[in-house]
Amino acid sequence: MPYAHITGWGMYVPEPVLTNDDIARLVDTSDEWIRNRTGIRERHIARENEFPSTLAVEASLKALEVANLAPTDLDLIICATSSPEYIFPATACIIQDQIGATKAGAFDLSAACSGFIYATNMAAQSIRSGSIKNALVIGSETLSRFVNWKDRNTCILFGDGAGAFVLQASDSPGGVLSAVMHSDGSGADLLTLAGGGSRHPATESTVREGKHYMYMDGKEVFRFATRVMGRATLESLDLAGLTTDDIQWIVPHQANYRIIETAAKYLKMPMDKFIVNVDRYGNTSTASIPIAAVEAVEKGMLKSGDKAVFVGFGAGLTWGAMTVEWTGAIPAKKHVHPKRYRFFARLRSFLLRVVRLLEGFLSRKEL
Ligand code: ACO
Repeated sequence: MPYAHITGWGMYVPEPVLTNDDIARLVDTSDEWIRNRTGIRERHIARENEFPSTLAVEASLKALEVANLAPTDLDLIICATSSPEYIFPATACIIQDQIGATKAGAFDLSAACSGFIYATNMAAQSIRSGSIKNALVIGSETLSRFVNWKDRNTCILFGDGAGAFVLQASDSPGGVLSAVMHSDGSGADLLTLAGGGSRHPATESTVREGKHYMYMDGKEVFRFATRVMGRATLESLDLAGLTTDDIQWIVPHQANYRIIETAAKYLKMPMDKFIVNVDRYGNTSTASIPIAAVEAVEKGMLKSGDKAVFVGFGAGLTWGAMTVEWTGAIPAKKHVHPKRYRFFARLRSFLLRVVRLLEGFLSRKEL
């Protein structure tokens, strides 16, 4: 049975930064309150012409560059997102077209902030089963579009960004060692974006009632998160036959510094084993775990051979954890340049549209 190794990683955040002081000009809050209660100092916010696919393409091309893998060699693309560009088509298909992943299947996965763990596990299991060899897993968000900038309970928390992993099959042991996924829909109403779906299709009244904005019962979500983070970590470690003594790092979902601290206490682990960057990005939902992992690699913290647990929670309610042995980049003799595929991907996409237009025109003439 092949193993699923993480051989590439990349992240991208939009340039504009929104500080706590900036938010304090919009709602009744302060830098001090936000820092003390959440650990967040600033977050990145997408420009008007940036979407989850825009951020995801940048992160994905970086991940493919590290893996030294051409987009045309991808078999599968999974985009975990809580802020998809459309209900359909899937954001993953837009990414597939823009990077030129000509033979990849592509779909979105909706499990809120646990989405990246769910998606990585799905890709890893597809590799383990032998049905595919190369997968791209992305977490990408522009949740700022669904934040009510007049609601101080939520608008202080979220930021935009994307992170991506490339997973590849290999006969060498390592890579994804175990994963657990959980859900509890009885808590579905604690964190919702109700408007625009088929229960509350967009109407003047849904907009008037603010249903197109995120709603969150912060206190309940906080209690839930502190309950599940440590437990899921231990479950995943147990499945991998490891204990907290065997791992170098925990890469938690970056929602609130206090939630991470509570998990550390539960696990009796020092905070310096936890990768934390919530201060600079806020909660980027599905993107938060890969962004934290990429930063840890780039700072020389997460190294080849290290064992780590990724752990997250989110709306649904969902939660999950994954234990990995970090593979690192595989040395290559010949370099592929995934970014160069971008031009050909655009050309291909344009030509496919022209062909579709001509085919439509000719078939109408035949009728
Ligand atoms: N600035 C100033 N005061 C505030 C603010 C603010 N931004 N927000 C709330 N307050 C006030 C409240 O009104 C309340 O005042 P009161 O005591 O007079 O009523 C007081 O501060 C305390 O409010 P709490 O809600 O108890 O504050 P808490 O310490 O719980 O922090 C927070 C709120 C930060 C939202 C916290 O509950 C939290 O982090 N929850 C988890 C959120 C989370 O992780 N969400 C993401 C899930 S992942 C996903 O799927 C998207």
